[in-house]
Amino acid sequence: MNEILLQIKDISKRFGGVKALDEVRLVIKKGEIHCLVGENGCGKSTLIKIISGFYKPDGGEIIFDGKSYSHLEINQAIQLGIQVIYQDMSVFPNLTVAENIAMNYELYNKKKLVNWKEVRKTAKSALGHIGIDLPLDEQVGKLSVADKQLIAIARSILYNSKLIIMDEPTSALTRKEVDKLFKVIHQLKDEGVSILFVSHKLDEVFEIADQFTVFRNGKSIVQADAKEITDDQFVYFMTGRKLEQKPFLAETRDDTKSLLKVEGLCLKNGFENISFEIHAGEILGITGLLGSGRTELAKTLFGMYKADAGKIYIDGKEVKVNSPMEALKLKIAYVPEDRLTEGLFLTQTIEKNMVIANIDKLRKKSRVVDYKRGYSDSKEWVRSLGIKLHELKDGITTLSGGNQQKVVLGKWLETAPKVLILNGPTVGVDIGAKYDIHDYLRGLAEKNDMAILMISDDINEVLMNCNRILIIKSGHITGEYKNTELSSEKLQALISGGEHEEAC
Ligand SMILES: Nc1ncnc2c1ncn2[C@@H]1O[C@H](COP(=O)(O)OP(=O)(O)OP(=O)(O)O)[C@@H](O)[C@H]1O
Ligand SMILES: [Mg+2]
Repeated sequence: MNEILLQIKDISKRFGGVKALDEVRLVIKKGEIHCLVGENGCGKSTLIKIISGFYKPDGGEIIFDGKSYSHLEINQAIQLGIQVIYQDMSVFPNLTVAENIAMNYELYNKKKLVNWKEVRKTAKSALGHIGIDLPLDEQVGKLSVADKQLIAIARSILYNSKLIIMDEPTSALTRKEVDKLFKVIHQLKDEGVSILFVSHKLDEVFEIADQFTVFRNGKSIVQADAKEITDDQFVYFMTGRKLEQKPFLAETRDDTKSLLKVEGLCLKNGFENISFEIHAGEILGITGLLGSGRTELAKTLFGMYKADAGKIYIDGKEVKVNSPMEALKLKIAYVPEDRLTEGLFLTQTIEKNMVIANIDKLRKKSRVVDYKRGYSDSKEWVRSLGIKLHELKDGITTLSGGNQQKVVLGKWLETAPKVLILNGPTVGVDIGAKYDIHDYLRGLAEKNDMAILMISDDINEVLMNCNRILIIKSGHITGEYKNTELSSEKLQALISGGEHEEAC
């Protein structure tokens, strides 16, 4: 199929002082999987919001199915067959799975009364279409990020869509779920649907894309056939620099302090008999499928859950971590998995989000918070983490996704932890910034003698940055490896394959 479905011609968009899009171009053919890539804040989500009618562009032209528009309205875009799965997913946490998937569809079909039987039937068939089984009556707020993502996808395929736009749909999915999603995407492509896919995971982009477009600083840099370009060229188009990373090789020395030791830790319905130790200067990786108990383990170490059995030692001393406040006092910091619901106060400014974990430190003798110091501390993090923003006083939601993630990271680093627990530290972060964050974390471990626990299912991230790796499966640690002993294929197989070797 060679017919053009969507043509973006010289679209521009400005937010106050920020030129988010500067005469960008993009052409999507029918039945094509088109990947849009580029660094955090380069304008990808802004363009998506323009295509879906959420924003009005300042100039340029949108040609859809042969018709020209200066801008689209939201309803018009839906009528034309454009569906978007946004980065923040926009599911309703207080509604059930079935309601989230099929309610709008009922209204879209101009039904005056909601037929609940019909809602369940529609939702079931949408989930069936993408091969997912979820409890229809479960409240969505209780589900994992991955399940919320799948619900948003199921919802989008209900409409007679010609173009489905997915803004970082795989950021919270494990490999198995990504495979499932890719199968669905190929199925939609075979049905003639075009897909505009935004992702920072380059291996995925290469796997799925027919075509791709690279944005940098609000400009379209190149559009090319995915087969005609190498990984290195691709990274260069995105970042304007060459990035090479060598594996992190901190060896555990006998003379280094054990900063975190866990012995026989158990959490009912979470994990069982977990034991490990991290020395100063080490980055220990924990990787496993979603639901393996990795997040429960992190939250227990940070005092959000109370362990049913086992011991935790910090700096050689046995401690009880009964709350996040206590964890902070013990110099433990936790960068959570889902920045939108756990990591940020979405109604607050960037600055307030950055200082919140340090309010106590910022209090002067008079108990008044020293916001001036908070401001200069925040500014320092913006500089050292390369956070792209207009002003610290802007709302946190004006930042692009990856830059929000950096704010969460900066906020916890400011607490000067000794034990830093990271859960998916670079989800949604672009390749250049990811490289910089990794570099920064390695430096923290090496130079500041910090102990870092990195929970991640990004195979390359774990292999490159963790000198030791634990595999967690169904709440048990099933193996421990040095990163030098593993290839990405082997690690992948260990995570998803077979039964665990021995129960702890
Ligand atoms: N509503 C808004 N108000 C002010 N500035 C905004 C707004 N939306 C986006 N921006 C700015 O426009 C630029 C482009 O943001 P956009 O969200 O499109 O980036 P992105 O390419 O999707 O990044 P990411 O990969 O991090 O998601 C950024 O500098 C961002 O801060
Ligand atoms: Mg975005």
